[in-house]
This record gives sequence, structure tokens and C-alpha cells, in this order.
Amino acid sequence: MPAISASAPGKIILFGEHAVVYSQPAIAVPVLQVRAKAILTANPRGRSGSVHIQAPGIGLEAELEALPDQHPLAAAIQATLRALDLKRIPACNIRITSTIPVAAGLGSGAAVSVALIRGLSNFLGQPLQDQAVSEIAYEVEKIHHGTPSGIDNTVITTALPVFFVREMPIEFLDVPLPFTIVIGDTGVRSPTALTVADVKLAREANPADYDRTFHEIGEITRSARKAIENGKPDELGGLMGANHACLQRLGVSSPQLDSLVIAAHNAGAFGAKLSGGGRGGNMIALPQPGSADKIAEALTKAGATRTIITEVKQRAI
Ligand code: PMV
Repeated sequence: MPAISASAPGKIILFGEHAVVYSQPAIAVPVLQVRAKAILTANPRGRSGSVHIQAPGIGLEAELEALPDQHPLAAAIQATLRALDLKRIPACNIRITSTIPVAAGLGSGAAVSVALIRGLSNFLGQPLQDQAVSEIAYEVEKIHHGTPSGIDNTVITTALPVFFVREMPIEFLDVPLPFTIVIGDTGVRSPTALTVADVKLAREANPADYDRTFHEIGEITRSARKAIENGKPDELGGLMGANHACLQRLGVSSPQLDSLVIAAHNAGAFGAKLSGGGRGGNMIALPQPGSADKIAEALTKAGATRTIITEVKQRAI
């Protein structure tokens, strides 16, 4: 049997992070330049049920049965088997690789889950539909994040720009005029679970202010949707600035993120903001047409450890 492989892209949040946890909308888009991949190979001489997992990126080489149930890879495999109503897997090797930086707001955990769930269900001859893949990846996200909104697994499974409201049907965005985003990595790793937990605590101490800010972010995100769907992406610059100011108020920015945002402005970007959980990870900037390279250079000079130039378009092929 030939090896079976499946992959999933990264993602970046354009608007609405954190507020999305409190039922406000968020906009996220796939980032095709980075991907997670799962390759499954049958091991005809192996004992039935023996699954050898290699994930060199996280220094993991182990038998499935040696991993705790709460390990995200084990959880993804077990949940896939449950969804397929299977008790055992034929002996196999699973190799996971990813070019998506971990804990950087690019959805690395969800992309690994989606690639693994897809690859495994294909390997078992029962390919799961996107909806089921996304639901299983969401269960695994809960292990990573505690109370994830579900945006990562949704955008990564569909690989389409989404307007996402928690527990509502997915809405895909019309993007009549594609536009470019520059992503800049602070190089600081910041687990989303921590910032989400901190925001939760801070909100408990000060619900009125936090809910007002979440509401404001929701309005910004709705305006951003209109700008994108009306083919006026230039208008997103001001909205990014407003969203970044809200995120600063929530306490999830950092000196590194702020200085990359300022560097993008100084280099002529229409706007910039942090993206994802915050306190580290990535920021995004909206360059003027033809100036993405210049913004990326400015971000590198200001300390970004990596930049990605990506296009937001209707259908990510
Ligand atoms: O750090 P990221 O890009 O995985 O995104 C986190 C987004 C939050 O809104 C902060 C949390 C969530 O689950 O939506």
C-alpha cells in the first residue's frame, strides 16, 4: 500500500481575536505558505494496533500507546477512530512535519490535527468530510487552548477566508479584490491558552470595560467584512489600527508587537495590528499596493524573526 499523505495550511486572524471567545465575530484567512503534513505508511509486519509516530519538529518519536490520552496527537487519532466507529488501526507509521511556527498565532496545532485526521481517515479508507474533520480538530483544540472559539479548526479545514461567530454556521467571505498581507513574527513564543486565560481573569475583575471593548472589536470586524466584500481592502488599514488599540486595552499586546506595528506604519503601511493570542507571536500589516517587500524589510530591521507575504483571495488554490 502506498503512503497516504494529507496536509493543512496555516491561518492568520485579520480581525476579532479574543472578542471572538465572547461571541463577537472574527475574520481569519488561510496562509498557504506554511503547512502541516501527515504521512501514513502501512507496516505489514507490525502488530495490529501498533502505531509508530514521528514528529521531528517537536522532537517526538513514540508508540501511540505510550502517549498519554491527553496528548494532542493521541487525542486526534483516538477521536478519529471513534468518529469512524473503529477500535483498532492496522499497524502503521505516522510522520508529522510542519513549517508552521508553534505558539505564534498561525494555527500550528489545528493544522497538525487537521492533516492527521484527514490522513488517518484516508488511510483507513473512510475519508471524513470537512465538517467532521473540523469538529474532531476542535475537540483537540480544547486540549491546547481550554476554551477555543473554534476559528482555527474552521479556517484551516476549509482553507477559505471566513467570517466566524462562535457556535454559528460558518460564513465564507467574498473577496472580490484580492489584497496582500505582510505577517511579521516577533520570535516570542506565547501560548494562546495563557493570554485567553489572562483576559478571562481580567474580564472577571472588570466586566463592563472588557465587554465594551469586545463589542467595539465586533463593530470593527463587521466594518472590515464590509470593506473586504465591497472590494475596498484599503479601508482595512484604519480598522487594523483601531483593533490593535482595543487589543492593547485588553492587555495582550507587548513591546515587541507594538514596535513592529510602528515600524510597519513608518514604512508606509495602511495599517497594522497584532494577530492571534498576542504577547508575542505574529503581527500583520496591510501594505500599499506594490510595497509588501518594503514593509517586510522594515519589519525585519525592527526585529521580526520571520516575515511572510500572503495574498487574501476568494479561493485558496
Ligand atoms: O493565537 P491564535 O492565532 O491561535 O488565535 C487565538 C485567537 C483567540 O481569539 C485569542 C482565541 C480563540 O480561540 O479564538
